[in-house]
Amino acid sequence: MTTARFSGSEPDTTVLDDPFTTALRGPQSHFARSLGNIVTFEPDVSVFYGHPREMTAQDYVDLAELTGVGRTASLRDRRTPLPDGVFDVVAEIDLVQYRGDAAVSAADAELVRLGSADVPEMTALVELTEPGPFLPRTIEMGVYLGYRDPSSGRLLSMAGQRLQVPGWTEISAVCTHPDARGRGLARRVVSAVAQVIVDAGHAPFLHTTADNSARHLYEKMGFTLNSEAPLEILRVNKGMR
Ligand SMILES: CC(C)(COP(=O)(O)OP(=O)(O)OC[C@H]1O[C@@H](n2cnc3c(N)ncnc32)[C@H](O)[C@@H]1OP(=O)(O)O)[C@@H](O)C(=O)NCCC(=O)NCCS
Repeated sequence: MTTARFSGSEPDTTVLDDPFTTALRGPQSHFARSLGNIVTFEPDVSVFYGHPREMTAQDYVDLAELTGVGRTASLRDRRTPLPDGVFDVVAEIDLVQYRGDAAVSAADAELVRLGSADVPEMTALVELTEPGPFLPRTIEMGVYLGYRDPSSGRLLSMAGQRLQVPGWTEISAVCTHPDARGRGLARRVVSAVAQVIVDAGHAPFLHTTADNSARHLYEKMGFTLNSEAPLEILRVNKGMR
């Protein structure tokens, strides 16, 4: 295994400050739907939103309209109060962000590239293990690699790419079937996805929640804590127009 270090200039870490907006307004704008200052992914691609931290009254109107009554939106690091009665906070998550500009990366010939035909099996593994959202078209966001049991062919572990921002690519959907944990599979799939990212001239980063024990995995692999921010899931109760 190699440790991914960069011989040229280090990637700019400030683009990780608001990666959802940066991805949606930049490299992944082809997946975006927007209204005013609010931007989000097509609903079958990803759940995340880009928005100003200081949300104005108009931004909340646009958020409600873009999302739709009865549906949910996620706001990262909101710093202005919600308007009365329009949104319910259905979850509050402490999101932690790691960067891997010195993380272990390695190619691994036993891993397979996962494609759209694998999505039902990937979705089943995600539903069982709950690494975070994985939607029918999430796989279009980048390279997904998996480890299959050599005798049964069953998918046991996987990881892939999600957000793209200048100089950085996010690793996501890291999960291992409960029957196959503790065998180094997550380390292998994360290392191999990191290698794909490094080969493309980027550095890896990732998000998890503050209480997820997967942090031990990432820290053992050399990822370093970059930031912490609250992520709220809001349900729209009524329109504002
Ligand atoms: C987190 C997860 C992917 C780890 O999978 P795994 O295949 O068992 O992990 P590995 O065997 O590759 O572990 C690699 C190293 O990380 C450590 N590690 C992995 N999970 C750990 C945990 N929950 N607590 C402490 N250490 C852990 C292992 O001890 C191992 O250390 P070592 O190399 O020094 O022996 C798995 O538990 C899982 O699917 N969790 C649910 C989904 C999830 O939350 N994913 C993360 C989303 S951000």
